[in-house]
Amino acid sequence: MKNAVIPVAGLGTRLLPATKSQPKEMLPVGRKPIVQHVVEELIQVGIAEVLFITGPGKTSIENHFDINHELVQTLRENGKEELLNELEFDRLHVQYYYTRQRQLLGLGHAILCARSFVGNEPFVVALGDSLIGLNAESDIVERMEACFDEYGCAAVIAFDVVPENEIPQYGIAQPESDDEFFRLLDIIEKPDLDEAPSNLAVAARYIFTPKIFDALDRTRPGKGNEIQLTDAIKLMIEDGEKVYGVRLKDGERRYDIGNFESYFQAFIEFALADEKYGASLREYISSLNGE
Ligand code: UTP
Repeated sequence: MKNAVIPVAGLGTRLLPATKSQPKEMLPVGRKPIVQHVVEELIQVGIAEVLFITGPGKTSIENHFDINHELVQTLRENGKEELLNELEFDRLHVQYYYTRQRQLLGLGHAILCARSFVGNEPFVVALGDSLIGLNAESDIVERMEACFDEYGCAAVIAFDVVPENEIPQYGIAQPESDDEFFRLLDIIEKPDLDEAPSNLAVAARYIFTPKIFDALDRTRPGKGNEIQLTDAIKLMIEDGEKVYGVRLKDGERRYDIGNFESYFQAFIEFALADEKYGASLREYISSLNGE
């Protein structure tokens, strides 16, 4: 699969004031902005074209993936060539595209903005505020592609087991089986605990054929007056389309950066895994705990 869509248009209100004048997708986790981790994960599995669905206040994302010639020249002139390694990601072989979601009508509406970009090809959707695994090392999208090919799916969605208290925050699966690849019988957006058919939550990575656009066209605004992607997926299931789920592996965590609790957790885990500073940070945290 060569195309991916990364929606980054949301306001990130749960992370105010940090997101008042900067995109949440540009907040750092460890050494890199969240969205750089996402792009690196996609490049690793062969994605060559990335469309960002952006909005006002998101131009720093475009700048981040562009080459900053002035910065490169300044580093050279000041004898700081070694820092050029930190900028290598902006020369990776990937083509970036940007389009604006001109009204914030929800994630489903953001995906609709990708229609002409993807044409008749299947494509990956990776949410710009969620990481899978430490340091972009997850091959979840590759496994999803394997599932897509094996079962001739119309859509494949990544799922992660979440604790009970997080069930009401996510789309929750009704799986047909306990297998790693399972047919999705239903999906319920942000259910109450007693309505939840499982503890498997949508994990921010999707593969769709263009059939998703027909489903989105037929999706009426739902919770929050937004066009919910989950509702369109539900429609595809009702149409009898093959919609499959793929489970994350044990230890392959999904880090949702959308709220401070999980953002702080993600930052600490990535910082602790840092080659240079991880060990001393661990000692520092132990000293705070009086250990
Ligand atoms: P969220 O619902 O978590 O993002 O969407 P949000 O709206 O920014 O969050 P809060 O509730 O205000 O804190 C998940 C992803 O979908 C994108 C977001 O940018 C995020 O990456 N999104 C959401 C859009 O691109 N457009 C939308 O209309 C909504």
